[in-house]
Amino acid sequence: MVQLHSAPKLLALCFFLILVNFYIAEAGVRHYKWEVKYDFRSPDCYKKLVITINGKSPGPTIEAQEGDTVIVEVNNSLLTENLAIHWHGIRQIGTPWFDGTEGVSQCPILPGDTFVYQFVVDRPGTYLYHAHYGMQREAGLYGMIRVASKDPEPFSYDFDRSIILNDWYHKSTYEQSAGLSSIPFQWVGEPQSLLIHGKGRFNCSSLTADVCNSTNPQCSPFVQTVVTGKTYRIRVASLSALSALSFQIEGHNMTVVEADGHYVEPFVVKNLYIYSGETYSVLVKANQDPSRNYWITSNVVSRNRTTPPGLAIFNYYPNHPMRSPPTTPPPPPAWDNVESRLIQSLTIKAHPNYTIKPPTTSDRVIVMLNTQNTIDGVRHWSVNNVSFFLPHTPYLVALKENINGVFNQRPPPDGYDFNNYDILSVANNTNATSSNGIYRLQFNTTVDVILQNANTMNKNNSETHPWHLHGHDFWVLGYGKGKFDVNNDPKNYNLVNPISKNTVPVHPFGWTALRFRSDNPGVWAFHCHIESHFYMGMGVVFEEGIDRVGKLPSSIMGCGKTKNLLRP
Ligand code: C2O
Ligand code: CU
Repeated sequence: MVQLHSAPKLLALCFFLILVNFYIAEAGVRHYKWEVKYDFRSPDCYKKLVITINGKSPGPTIEAQEGDTVIVEVNNSLLTENLAIHWHGIRQIGTPWFDGTEGVSQCPILPGDTFVYQFVVDRPGTYLYHAHYGMQREAGLYGMIRVASKDPEPFSYDFDRSIILNDWYHKSTYEQSAGLSSIPFQWVGEPQSLLIHGKGRFNCSSLTADVCNSTNPQCSPFVQTVVTGKTYRIRVASLSALSALSFQIEGHNMTVVEADGHYVEPFVVKNLYIYSGETYSVLVKANQDPSRNYWITSNVVSRNRTTPPGLAIFNYYPNHPMRSPPTTPPPPPAWDNVESRLIQSLTIKAHPNYTIKPPTTSDRVIVMLNTQNTIDGVRHWSVNNVSFFLPHTPYLVALKENINGVFNQRPPPDGYDFNNYDILSVANNTNATSSNGIYRLQFNTTVDVILQNANTMNKNNSETHPWHLHGHDFWVLGYGKGKFDVNNDPKNYNLVNPISKNTVPVHPFGWTALRFRSDNPGVWAFHCHIESHFYMGMGVVFEEGIDRVGKLPSSIMGCGKTKNLLRP
């Protein structure tokens, strides 16, 4: 029985328990066991083979607190297919071997094998995970990582929710990749549907019900239920295979507060442009007429869209969650409105209280011209006329263990023919080559990368490419139109409050300037996050501080020339 004089004791006990709790939370371990396999699923009503984690696509959300160790035991039950899972946005400081990038940081996980990823989530924010082997990601293997902050955040909300956006193809990744490397070239085309948190709606009318069934509960729309007057933090992420997207909640403004795990100076949008590999947190207040539901939409931008909008329901409690809004979905921005996308990119700045100042100068500048090329009759994407392909033996093992003959020792160029190359005319770079050569960065230096966009092999066409860097965040110093001017454009860099990100778009016919520190020992991919573009060679690899990398676990070995290391 609690006696009167024991109140202080109770208080002390409570305090002690809170402390214990806090201590446990300080060094938490989050353990997950995943089984990865193929399942028949109908995310947009059309039945196909989908890669699931524990039966789910999108896979389970990883919930952790900053500083926690995440352990994921992955069992590859794909039977005839290799696997690797990348933790997108997690820098893997001290654990470059668990980055999950096949060919770069590890050998693929063989069918039947179990692989244990173990890494620290050192910063709060919204991150992703997805397959990083071939074009496996778009078969459905993806999900979200939410890392809670230990400190108060610079904004408040009542509820914390997530929405992953995606586009969806009916053809298998095998048909797609075979087409991309065929002569003649067979482009993957526009996606059949857009998924909102794993759910979409394809028009089944011309198909039989065993193939496409619009009454299948698997393709009932995603519902976000809200209570009038409450504020929702919605973590919006895109893992689209191809599409740049515009995300909207009918009748509601969104206040952007986080981007790729960094707090931004809040700004309000009606529609959020989001590129594959990006994450944002937006605050949405349920402040509209509560007697009805509203549309949540995603639409393709930057390509002449043929895919119908992705639709979900913003449901005001207590309306029925499945009740369709009485309106037609809000119209998307014009697909070719580059200007409004550029403006949004330029608006994203670091939050004043969380600004990490970039170094004011750099030690090395690499300008990367993005072009389409034909090499030996096959269509490719190239950087400075070099189209990238992965070696069979992972770079990390080859470099750390001094295995020779794994990749081309000649690095790709640091620039292109600035004076003579015309970025506005159809690419005709007959001198393009394929290579698995990499950039070797001096450790602990400041590196600038300028992404330079150009015309594709079609007239008057330049695409949006979301570039993602592994192992780092970079500062986004600027965006511009046309050809980057090495002498003058750097004068206008934002060195005051640039946002830090891990994924950034380069807009059509424009350039984007990034800066990062080569301070994370390891080997890191930097590539276009469009699945088919990376497959066609749109990527590079950076090595930094390889001599500082710790002892490699033997679990990442077993393929190519790493086999020799495993022999006694
Ligand atoms: Cu999210 Cu290398 O990718
Ligand atoms: Cu691309």
